[in-house]
Order: sequence, then structure tokens, then C-alpha cells
Amino acid sequence: MADSLALVTGANKGIGKEISRQLAAKGVFVLMGARDRERGEKAVTDLQARGLPVEFIQIDVTSQTSVDHAAAEVEHLHGRLDILVNNAGIALDWFQVRN
Ligand SMILES: NC(=O)c1ccc[n+]([C@@H]2O[C@H](COP(=O)([O-])OP(=O)(O)OC[C@H]3O[C@@H](n4cnc5c(N)ncnc54)[C@H](OP(=O)(O)O)[C@@H]3O)[C@@H](O)[C@H]2O)c1
Repeated sequence: MADSLALVTGANKGIGKEISRQLAAKGVFVLMGARDRERGEKAVTDLQARGLPVEFIQIDVTSQTSVDHAAAEVEHLHGRLDILVNNAGIALDWFQVRN
């Protein structure tokens, strides 16, 4: 997988960050997507400090403009994308939703 390129959305924390870490540990170059630049870059710096091949990309999955901009950036800088992990989202507390 050494030449593979992945984009993980919602990668600044939680499951997205862990997926990024595990893919990068396998040699995949990971674009870590986050809607907030500061939070995203902090997560990227953390994984880079562990020697992992990751890079920040800004993407808010609820904004078509942001998604289009990120897609254009990937196309321009890399010309391809092998793996998309669309992880970004919120976990609803169904107990509270129902009651
Ligand atoms: N944890 C579970 O038990 C569980 C179970 C089933 C499914 N899931 C799903 O797995 C995914 C990750 O869960 P998690 O537990 O890791 O959640 P988490 O810790 O709350 O992380 C969610 C991530 O998604 C990002 N995000 C939210 N809205 C976004 C948007 N509009 N654009 C870009 N990024 C956005 C958050 O960014 P910010 O930091 O900027 O908010 C954060 O990085 C979610 O889709 C969740 O529904 C989780």
C-alpha cells in the first residue's frame, strides 16, 4: 500500500484520527480532513511527530463549496485518490433523542 493515497474526513479526533494513524502506519499517505484548521493541524502534527506520512486538508462535509474545494486540491496536488473514509459525523444519543 506504500503508494496509496487516502482521505479521511473528521480526522482531527476520535475514530477518524485512529483510522488515519492505522492507515499511515501501513504506509498509506493520509490526507487528514478537518473542518477546523487549528484542530486539524494539531492532529496532523501529533501523527507526524510519530513519523507517520500525513498531511492536513480542510473539509467541512456539510458544505458543498468546501467539498468541491478539497476535491480540487486533491486533484491539483495528487491527481488521484485511492481510499476515501467518510468518517465525519456526529453520534446521536438515541436515549436522549427518544425521551
Ligand atoms: N463512537 C461510536 O461509538 C460510534 C458508533 C457508531 C458510529 N459512529 C460514527 O463514527 C464517526 C466518528 O465517531 P467518533 O466517535 O470518532 O466521533 P467524534 O469523536 O465526535 O469525532 C467526530 C469527527 O467528525 C468531525 N466532524 C463533525 N462534523 C463535521 C463536518 N461537518 N465536517 C467535517 N468534520 C466534521 C469532528 O470535527 P470537530 O472536532 O470539528 O467537531 C470530529 O473530527 C461518526 O460519523 C459517528 O457517527 C461512532
